[in-house]
Amino acid sequence: MFGNLETLPPDPILGVTAAFRRDPSPDKVDLGVGVYRDQFGNTPVLAAVREAERAVIAAQRTKVYVGPAGNIQFNERIVELALGSLAAELKDRTAAIQTVGGCGALRIGAELLHAAAPDSVVHVSDPTWANHEPLLGSSGITLRRYPYYDPQTRAVAFDRMLEHLERLPSGAVVLLHACCHNPSGADLSLEQWDAVADVLDGRGLVPFVDLAYQGFGDDMEADVAGLRVLAGRLPTLLLAISCSKNFGLYRERTGALAIIAEDAATARAIATHQARTGRRMYSMPPDHGAAIAAHVLGDAQLRQAWQDEVSAMVVRMKQMRALLAGALSARRPQVDFLWLERQRGMFSLLGLAPAAIAALCDEEHVYMPPDGRINLAGVSDQNVERVADSIVRVLGRG
Ligand SMILES: Cc1ncc(COP(=O)(O)O)c(C=O)c1O
Repeated sequence: MFGNLETLPPDPILGVTAAFRRDPSPDKVDLGVGVYRDQFGNTPVLAAVREAERAVIAAQRTKVYVGPAGNIQFNERIVELALGSLAAELKDRTAAIQTVGGCGALRIGAELLHAAAPDSVVHVSDPTWANHEPLLGSSGITLRRYPYYDPQTRAVAFDRMLEHLERLPSGAVVLLHACCHNPSGADLSLEQWDAVADVLDGRGLVPFVDLAYQGFGDDMEADVAGLRVLAGRLPTLLLAISCSKNFGLYRERTGALAIIAEDAATARAIATHQARTGRRMYSMPPDHGAAIAAHVLGDAQLRQAWQDEVSAMVVRMKQMRALLAGALSARRPQVDFLWLERQRGMFSLLGLAPAAIAALCDEEHVYMPPDGRINLAGVSDQNVERVADSIVRVLGRG
């Protein structure tokens, strides 16, 4: 049956982790992995999550299925976290379903778009997270790219992006990263979000917002200011939420897909299709992670404690950005590295030639995927000098 299947090349990001593990060098550094790391290189369970987990387990009386839409309280609270007071205003027009992580939300969203309008085209940023295209494209939907990142300015190529969006036909779907753009770290300013909202609204385009890093850029509110501009103004919006990073719930596969529809009747219809799509793929979502996140968000004290933990992570990521920029500038004062501090979230693109990236991995034992995306949370006080030495050694290569 499966004899004709050829072995696939390793996933570009997971392959880096495997290569890192194989490397016996005591000085190796992993800047490839897509998870938060503390100064010791660990990804610990958050204290607020641990406390909520204890409460959830103590209160649990059964393991029966949660239902196709998942934990309704979780859905409401996580949408409220994203949309703030708009969530109540838009409640009747919103259909939400708990999903298997942010990936599950993206995939169900794509499945629904494909089912509702098989010819719809989703436009993703160039570049975008490596899994976006396979994940969305596997639904059968057509994908295209819009210009997003300018490697010269290390910022959003906003004029080109807007020009591109202005030419799209009505009904085209535009995938936008709410904050902490993966892989570039270059985010839209609030003024730019406003201008994007104008174009989407004027041309009848549909935003599909990927919110995987709320709280990882600046704070819980600032990171969703652009999303809220869109949600407040546009008739239809898809929102894929991940709790993997900000709750550290990676392996619990916790997320939600919220769709804001033109009217309440459409939202009710969408909810039935969301449930059917999930049912056809995996039947019911898992309980544990969503129960934990719902508990954290529903308990004022725990919610504050959690927000404080996330704030501490952001402080560290910003510190590591500044530290690496400083270490690189000290070695190459004539080169501008301050873009590292202007960018947000865990990721930035080094912008080096492929030969230089390969040399970093193979000769310097500093690992990252071939596009040169580095995870700043992999940098620490202990390894920053060594990482900076390695980067400047390969700067001119290729
Ligand atoms: C941009 C982006 N979207 C979505 C996700 C989905 O995350 P998960 O399915 O692990 O919740 C990720 C995870 O790395 C991401 O970087």
